[in-house]
Amino acid sequence: MRIPEDVRKDIPLTGEVIYFDNTATSLTPKPVIEAMDEYYLRYRANVHRGVHRLSQMATHKYEESRKVVAEFINARFEEVVFTKNTSESLNLVALGLEHIFKPGDKIVTTPYEHHSDLLPWQRLAKKLGLRLEFIEGDNEGNLDLSDAERKIRGAKLVAVQHVSNALGVIHEVEELGKMAKEEGAIFVVDAAQSAGHMEVDVKRLHADFLGLSGHKGPMGPTGIGVLYINEEFFEVFEPPLIGGGTIEDVGLEGYKLTEPPERFEAGTPNIGGAIGLAAGIRYIERIGIDKIERQERKLVKRITEGLDELGIPWYGPRNLKKHAGVVSFNVPGLHPHDVAAILDENNIMVRSGHHCALPVMKKLGINGTVRASFHVYNSLEEVETFLGVLEGLVKSLRS
Ligand SMILES: Cc1ncc(COP(=O)(O)O)c(C=O)c1O
Repeated sequence: MRIPEDVRKDIPLTGEVIYFDNTATSLTPKPVIEAMDEYYLRYRANVHRGVHRLSQMATHKYEESRKVVAEFINARFEEVVFTKNTSESLNLVALGLEHIFKPGDKIVTTPYEHHSDLLPWQRLAKKLGLRLEFIEGDNEGNLDLSDAERKIRGAKLVAVQHVSNALGVIHEVEELGKMAKEEGAIFVVDAAQSAGHMEVDVKRLHADFLGLSGHKGPMGPTGIGVLYINEEFFEVFEPPLIGGGTIEDVGLEGYKLTEPPERFEAGTPNIGGAIGLAAGIRYIERIGIDKIERQERKLVKRITEGLDELGIPWYGPRNLKKHAGVVSFNVPGLHPHDVAAILDENNIMVRSGHHCALPVMKKLGINGTVRASFHVYNSLEEVETFLGVLEGLVKSLRS
């Protein structure tokens, strides 16, 4: 497979615009759309509910999709729960573990988290009188690992993102997971920006819980996400939502919950979404995660060099080995939204603003950034076009 040419052929939009907003959501390859079409056109039925053949087929495909996800993150089939997105997955973790905390217990996270991996812990801490502590780090997003070791000591839960959507920094999740496990703390990983862009192996990361979104790196549809629950927590984790599909037996006096994963999936799930997500995972696995990573690294190297040449400050680690395919920057003298609007006039889609990471913006003393973020279908030619537009902009500001 030629990268990115052959991938671009599967994604018609790549021929129409320069899409550099992959951190927000990815474009969708045709095989993903075809897999969902097939469900809606040929075997549209509910799962786990019917003996008729359409329902049997839908159930088979839905559960086969769970298997694809499990293999993708190196989990067991039963440990994969379908959700809406990473935000829902992380909220569910906080709600389902609420009963294990006592006042004064410590939760540790970082100052670089997306709001979805911060607010659930802030709310839990406030409600239960917990201590919420943050691992120190610098303005590039590099964590101080000795401070991490100190803070994680005695913690009950540690929650960290794998990759920052605001700074592009890849955090040392494996090391942090090891520290958490040595302390007997629960380790929660936000893999929203890493899944589909680099290897995510729940065992290697020491994750007890992990959330990811289907619509980002895995190139699936919106509305489908994953919550990985380490089987050791099946009895500890209380399903925040219960009802249809989650039970073994019910009487008017009470109920008995069924086994995972159904125990954690109340109501009719996003069947077409799960099937689309599995098609997305199969698609990126055909390309190869290593090739995806390599292409994004190439683009990051060129874009950061180009920004340096233009005197445009960019954020995140200067050490590009720690920099994922997300580059935040600011054109001095221009608001990030104005830069994004000018880029849009030139057919280039980027994100601007605080990127749901306000504490990061506050730490850097800025109100936002412009963010260019990549996937495997982005090309060096697109980066050159993008840099050309910025060059014109910088020149016009100087004249
Ligand atoms: C690091 C990180 N965590 C969580 C999320 C939330 O993802 P979703 O909006 O799919 O729930 C995002 C979204 O951009 C993210 O970048």
